[in-house]
Amino acid sequence: MSFTAPAQPKRPALSQRRAVAGGIDLRVSIGSVSLKNPIIAASGTFAYGVEFAHLVDLNRLGGIVVKGLSAQPMVGNPAPRMCETVGGMVNAIGLQNIGVRAFVAEKLPALRRYDTAVIANVFGHSISEYVEVIGVLEDAEGLAAYELNISCPNVERGGIEYSSDPAQIAEVVGAARKAAGRRPLWVKLSPSVGIIGITAKAAEDAGADAVVIANTYPALCLDSRNRRSLLGSTTGGLSGPAIRPITIRLVYDASRVLRIPIIGLGGIESPADVAEYMVAGASAVEVGTAHFVDPQASEKLVISVEKWCQDENLLEISKLTGSIKA
Ligand SMILES: Cc1cc2nc3c(=O)[nH]c(=O)nc-3n(C[C@H](O)[C@H](O)[C@H](O)COP(=O)(O)O)c2cc1C
Repeated sequence: MSFTAPAQPKRPALSQRRAVAGGIDLRVSIGSVSLKNPIIAASGTFAYGVEFAHLVDLNRLGGIVVKGLSAQPMVGNPAPRMCETVGGMVNAIGLQNIGVRAFVAEKLPALRRYDTAVIANVFGHSISEYVEVIGVLEDAEGLAAYELNISCPNVERGGIEYSSDPAQIAEVVGAARKAAGRRPLWVKLSPSVGIIGITAKAAEDAGADAVVIANTYPALCLDSRNRRSLLGSTTGGLSGPAIRPITIRLVYDASRVLRIPIIGLGGIESPADVAEYMVAGASAVEVGTAHFVDPQASEKLVISVEKWCQDENLLEISKLTGSIKA
């Protein structure tokens, strides 16, 4: 079944109109990427964007990060692939996706007609796979940036995740930087590292234009009676409000060592959550698990964030970034 709705017409004047509606300037910049507001839909929770067009005015969003793209299509993990837990959920989708070539041919043409930044989330199990995916996307129009998911096992190094080792981060980010040409490269970090400043700095030194903090936290949900995992692939990744304060602390720590911008995500549901991430050092945020509660979560957040700024007498939302009084 296809949920793809006909694209709503692009409205070129919208960025300006929304940016200053109610006297509030919601615009933010991630290096050379200008967003009309700081609310971005997170990878894996908003499909390829177009599937949500019948429910959400995609033109209202600051950006959309599409489901992670691999060189070849992937079927993902066996079911069950999600379970609910206190304050969040654990997923083990297994990076199911249609493959980068089908994305470019079937999804991107409709998606790029919207007045929002489209970001391609890229992953691989070897450096050459990352480079191949970016190579295919380099021939396509309409992408604002790449988001590199480095929470993947490197099959050439015994399955150790790229994100856990600064040397491997340098290698994969360096190769992606070369392949990416002039498009900005955002690197999405894993939260399960000893010191986030070390992995974040490795990404910056290798050419990242921004870091995204963070991916899900490794987790295990068991059925106490039958002593089995609730997920088909045993372990998964925890997301949702439960991870928010831990991830905000990672954003804060990384902001103290980085010069490049940070995009924060983990458990965001309310305008206050957005503000907390920005105060801790984020220039923009992504919204993930909240879409499983309400598919319109990010669109509603754009409206409520604006109201929050009005109530706080804050004329420019970008002024929140790094404004922590420590
Ligand atoms: C069902 C599901 C699928 C996901 N798929 C991806 C993915 O393909 N690539 C990626 O980088 N992150 C993926 N993520 C991680 C989210 O983008 C996000 O980093 C994480 O869920 C934390 O944010 P949240 O608490 O707002 O959900 C996925 C998360 C969920 C819940």
